[in-house]
Amino acid sequence: MNKKEIRQQILRRLKEFNGNKKRQADKYLADQLFATSEYQHAQTIALVLSFNHEVNTFPIIEQALQDGKSVYVPEMDYKSRLMTFKEIDNINEIAKDKKGIYYATSNGQTTNELDLIVVPGVGFQQDGYRIGYGGGYYDKFLSAFPTSTISLLYDFQLTTFDPESFDQVVDKLIIYRTS
Ligand SMILES: Nc1ncnc2c1ncn2[C@@H]1O[C@H](COP(=O)(O)OP(=O)(O)O)[C@@H](O)[C@H]1O
Ligand SMILES: [Mg+2]
Repeated sequence: MNKKEIRQQILRRLKEFNGNKKRQADKYLADQLFATSEYQHAQTIALVLSFNHEVNTFPIIEQALQDGKSVYVPEMDYKSRLMTFKEIDNINEIAKDKKGIYYATSNGQTTNELDLIVVPGVGFQQDGYRIGYGGGYYDKFLSAFPTSTISLLYDFQLTTFDPESFDQVVDKLIIYRTS
């Protein structure tokens, strides 16, 4: 299967994984993240504002703010296909853009220099190669601004594919085992 087919197949499974099972998994993944030295030592952390089918990042962002971290979320420029990160200090100051992706409405400062990025993704290889949503936003960002990265995922997102020359690896995978 190519990246596109794998993406579609795993997205279907992500959308079926919900309810109590997902809440339990997301709690586990959040706690595992908080236990890492990368999280504990990071002062500035980037996370997405998650879609319903993704690991719920809203409680993670709230905890990180409570822990005194500076939290940043993606600021997308769909025209240039570039992304930067914008500081958010209140999880309520968000809205959905034309693609249905949450963004921060506050006028926080933007940065490309972060201590840790929690990278979203659809499929992952054990070695950290990842399939995203197809925009290459994180590949581009990480090639320009190498940053320590962690992804949180469910075991059914593990896959194998042929990484392309521009694909960037995620440093650490935290995996929830569904069985
Ligand atoms: N460093 C980069 N510079 C320019 N374009 C890039 C870079 N990295 C990736 N891209 C472009 O992003 C597009 C999407 O990448 P792909 O790996 O398929 O998506 P995703 O990583 O979101 O699954 C590719 O067509 C590729 O040309
Ligand atoms: Mg890629």
